[in-house]
Amino acid sequence: MATRVSGIRLARRLDEVGFSDIVQIRNKVMELRAAGHKVHPMHGGEPYFETPDAIKYAAIKALAENQTHYAPSSGILPLRKALAEKLAAKNRIDATPDEVLVTVGGSQGLYAAFQSVLDPGDDALVFSPYWTPIGDLVTGTQARPLLVPTITARRNGLRMTLEHFSTPKTRAIYYNTPQNPGGVVFTRADAEEVAAFAIERDLIVIADEAYEDLVYDGEHVSIASLPGMAERTIACFTFSKTYAMTGWRAGYAVAREPFMTALRKIVLYSTNGVATPVQYAMLQGLATPEREIAARREEYRRRRDLLVAGLNEVGLECEPPAGAFYAFPNAERIHRKSRAAAQILLEKAHIATIPGVVFGAQGEGHLRFGYAIPIEEIEDCVEALRGFFS
Ligand SMILES: Cc1ncc(COP(=O)(O)O)c(C=O)c1O
Repeated sequence: MATRVSGIRLARRLDEVGFSDIVQIRNKVMELRAAGHKVHPMHGGEPYFETPDAIKYAAIKALAENQTHYAPSSGILPLRKALAEKLAAKNRIDATPDEVLVTVGGSQGLYAAFQSVLDPGDDALVFSPYWTPIGDLVTGTQARPLLVPTITARRNGLRMTLEHFSTPKTRAIYYNTPQNPGGVVFTRADAEEVAAFAIERDLIVIADEAYEDLVYDGEHVSIASLPGMAERTIACFTFSKTYAMTGWRAGYAVAREPFMTALRKIVLYSTNGVATPVQYAMLQGLATPEREIAARREEYRRRRDLLVAGLNEVGLECEPPAGAFYAFPNAERIHRKSRAAAQILLEKAHIATIPGVVFGAQGEGHLRFGYAIPIEEIEDCVEALRGFFS
């Protein structure tokens, strides 16, 4: 038995903060692989291609030129300028370089956003199923996530549903489009409804646009671009998905005052900014021609169509996701409980997926299959599914 050292305890605000279930699945996959099994890796969320060479060489050049010193904690000016131009051109978000903050991945932007606006006892509306860390980012501020079922909200009216789940203590809405895990892409009309509700109730919107470049059906609308929204939105972006830069930890946030001062403080006291050579690599990333991004999107579309057809063929019902790179089929044919379904699929067919329930109660009965992997691996997975159900 572990000895309890009296008087030592952790900060209470971490009591409700979980540590990703996904890590446990990754461990099980490693165990199976170590035992010599081939595992179909549908559990991940990383692009199938490598960081483009031009981006890597920009980092190497920065290192060779000794760009290895402290940079301004909010990011180097040429990068913030280039990001402001990108935000104006692509997202229709009007921002000065001072309203842009370079962050350690999208994750730090989101962490800073929740820390900046939520107090203990506050509530935040979160469309569910949601990317798992969001629940922990909210509870880490000692606020409470109020889960809003995305599918029913879109069917019954977003504004009415948000109204229904909202409390007098609601301060913010987490708005993720395209969504992980469900692949939902909110339309312009959806964004307008959420915006109208936020304005009417004087709420802050934390927008997560990690998958902005991965929309197959419809368009990506940045909610901050709508009238009256730039002043109440903190929008968080990342280089992880578009440029295959997950390990670089490169992201940015855009917001007006008073938010920017708060966000800057959190970045300053947590990491004191993003590694200087990484910022030069980001600058190069922004020079990527739009046609390259579009070509990769088509590669993802092929993967989506192949996987979704395979899932439906074996009776795992799945609507084609409009965005991001995950399919989220109903898996009740395997087991009513998604944790059991994921375990069965992993043990019997060596297909690694993520149980839907880890993305909130609204994800129960589903499994998340990531399809940002080589085509052949998707073909192998579909074959393994056929074998499993035959
Ligand atoms: C919805 C969503 N938001 C934000 C992120 C943050 O990614 P990163 O911290 O790698 O930029 C992810 C990564 O998986 C995500 O799925």
